[in-house]
Amino acid sequence: MRLVALFTLLAAAVSAQSIQYDESRKVWLLNTRVSSYAMGVSPEGQLQHLYWGGPLWRIADVPAASRKEDISSFDPHEMLENEEFASWGGKRFYETALKVTRADGDRDLVLHYQSHHAEGDKLSITLKDIKDDIEAVLEYRVFAEAGMISRRALIRNKSKQAITIESAQSATWYVPPGDGYRLTYLSGRWAAETQVNREPVHEGMKVLESRLGHTGHNFNPWFAIDRGEANEEHGSVWFGALAWSGNWRISVEQTPYNQVRVTGGFNTFDFAYPLKPGEQLETPEFYGGYAANGFGEASRLLHGLELDHVQPQGSTARARPVLYNSWEATEFNVDEAGQTALAQKAAKLGVELMVMDDGWFGKRNTDHAGLGDWGVNPQKFPNGLGGLIKTVNGLGMDFGLWVEPEMVNPDSDLYRTHPDWVMNFPGRPRSELRNQLVLNLAREDVKEYIFDVLDKLVTTYKFRYFKWDMNRIFAEPGWPEVAADAQRELWVKYVWNYYEIMDRLRKKHRNLEIESCSGGGGRIDLGVLQYVDEVWTSDNTEAFDRLKIQEGFSMAYAAKFMSAWVTDVPNMNGRSTPLRYRFLVAMQGALGIGSNLNKFTDEDIKLATQMVSLYKRIRETVQFGGLYRLLSPRTSDTTANEYLLKDGREAVVFAFRHSQQYNTEPPTLYLQGLDPKAVYQAELWDGTLMEKTSGAYLMQSGLHLRLHGDFDSTAVLLHRQ
Ligand code: DGJ
Repeated sequence: MRLVALFTLLAAAVSAQSIQYDESRKVWLLNTRVSSYAMGVSPEGQLQHLYWGGPLWRIADVPAASRKEDISSFDPHEMLENEEFASWGGKRFYETALKVTRADGDRDLVLHYQSHHAEGDKLSITLKDIKDDIEAVLEYRVFAEAGMISRRALIRNKSKQAITIESAQSATWYVPPGDGYRLTYLSGRWAAETQVNREPVHEGMKVLESRLGHTGHNFNPWFAIDRGEANEEHGSVWFGALAWSGNWRISVEQTPYNQVRVTGGFNTFDFAYPLKPGEQLETPEFYGGYAANGFGEASRLLHGLELDHVQPQGSTARARPVLYNSWEATEFNVDEAGQTALAQKAAKLGVELMVMDDGWFGKRNTDHAGLGDWGVNPQKFPNGLGGLIKTVNGLGMDFGLWVEPEMVNPDSDLYRTHPDWVMNFPGRPRSELRNQLVLNLAREDVKEYIFDVLDKLVTTYKFRYFKWDMNRIFAEPGWPEVAADAQRELWVKYVWNYYEIMDRLRKKHRNLEIESCSGGGGRIDLGVLQYVDEVWTSDNTEAFDRLKIQEGFSMAYAAKFMSAWVTDVPNMNGRSTPLRYRFLVAMQGALGIGSNLNKFTDEDIKLATQMVSLYKRIRETVQFGGLYRLLSPRTSDTTANEYLLKDGREAVVFAFRHSQQYNTEPPTLYLQGLDPKAVYQAELWDGTLMEKTSGAYLMQSGLHLRLHGDFDSTAVLLHRQ
């Protein structure tokens, strides 16, 4: 008996250890609550990937790294071995994680194990070129409770000559060797972001990327791979998210040897980063996870990581307040009287944060002028912003301000004074988009200017919130002031400086919150989530379109970050949906209102007030709870999502029907994650109490809702008794 107890204790202790190392075989095993990940050093000194999947507890089970045999002179062993962080050199012609050129022209780099260091949940493994002092330090972090790991690399030039890095990736991930995999990814464009795509992985390479300077609307740096049969609840899913808000690249590659490799980091497009002797380059974090229970579990793991470990205040962050933003109502026509009138109406609805959008500064009456001149427009606000902010605060709301600090209109005092601050190639065109040019934020003086502008605004007006916008992609990314071989550092340094400004602002102004916006959802990723409290999901606020945008968003990002507004109809596509539908769609994220409140009828005001107060009751569950996507807008005429509070006390189910046909009932909703033994009191969105039902019944027999006609919607709260 005693022996059994001791063994059980030992096994628990071993599995609880997040980093295990078997010195004799040089194998590491990283353990999380739901997964394990292993790598080891081959007799030749190569670091090889050995395992990624469900949790293991016995490191001895993981076979040591070994050398494979060449298949032919066309298929060398290096191509068959799953190198953990391969550099381009020797006989490696797949997608490598590192490629350099030395000043003397030598481009061969072969990395072998040098040393390692483990401390707590962090492990770093140093690889070194077989000849030169060029190192890649691979850093691993294990988020055992969150069920995730992260990887990144530090590339160090300790040699005596300069090198140029042509590719610096954060990590290569391998799923178990095999065929028949399927890739899920998010693609889109402006006003149609984060659309879910699924396609088989075949031999060859699929590239997801941004070359645009920011994260981009076209692809989001997230991937998931399954065996072609996973669904929301079942099946193995390997997934990852890259924490970078500039040019990024994730390649998904199936080799002729049934290896499926995912490599991601800085985009290799136009990339060239010089390292003098003694210098180093850090790649972004690449987070990865394995879920045994489908895409639903994969999303919940990632959401948990973001909420507890990535966002600035981690698990102590407050729930997002209900926000009002007048952009869709007023566009550039902001002034003290108009904003005050809207603020008074918003406060009555229960709004907690009033954000004034574009148009308050410089000569900003249209998008043709003013960007760069961050002084308050004296015609619109003769007494500065102080009066408005006082009124807003007096109404019990915090105040937030829109800025787009990286940009400049040619028609602005800033551009007239500092035309050289714009990224450009001398003598060549400076291409405008939305009548604006991009400041070269990689420059120290531009960084300091932007920090000062924002710092002064918060210091002067002591408001709570910036909406930081960025409304165009890069063009002509030249940096003529630095040496030709350093110019392409712009792609990386721009993003570092963007992060640094937010970091410094937050450290100086402890209460300050920031929203990341880029013409809608152009800058959403785990890099920016380290510095912001929420993100603007899409400029498309049409509620039916939003269902798909929000579904894709939820694959990778928690609802707490998903800013979602109720706006006026008809909206995009000329579509009109009922106000209740619009509210319930937006209440699945961080609720905001963007309607013209001056046009709200008494009935609208009554419903909006009721919905805002309902939202305040359920927002902990929505923003911090576990999300179960019950029915997808991609495959059903009914969309349904369930949010479950961590302790299981409360669940909220939202359901939306597009168009009823043939007098049919909507599909049954089989709830998930409830306590089968518990009894739940169901309450409809309007307060009507329904019958009490057990968790077992709600999950096995399901919830039967009534949704009639077009664009019907409902929400049900479940309170555990
Ligand atoms: C684009 C944003 O996505 C909108 O919400 C709004 O802030 C405009 N820019 C203002 O120019």
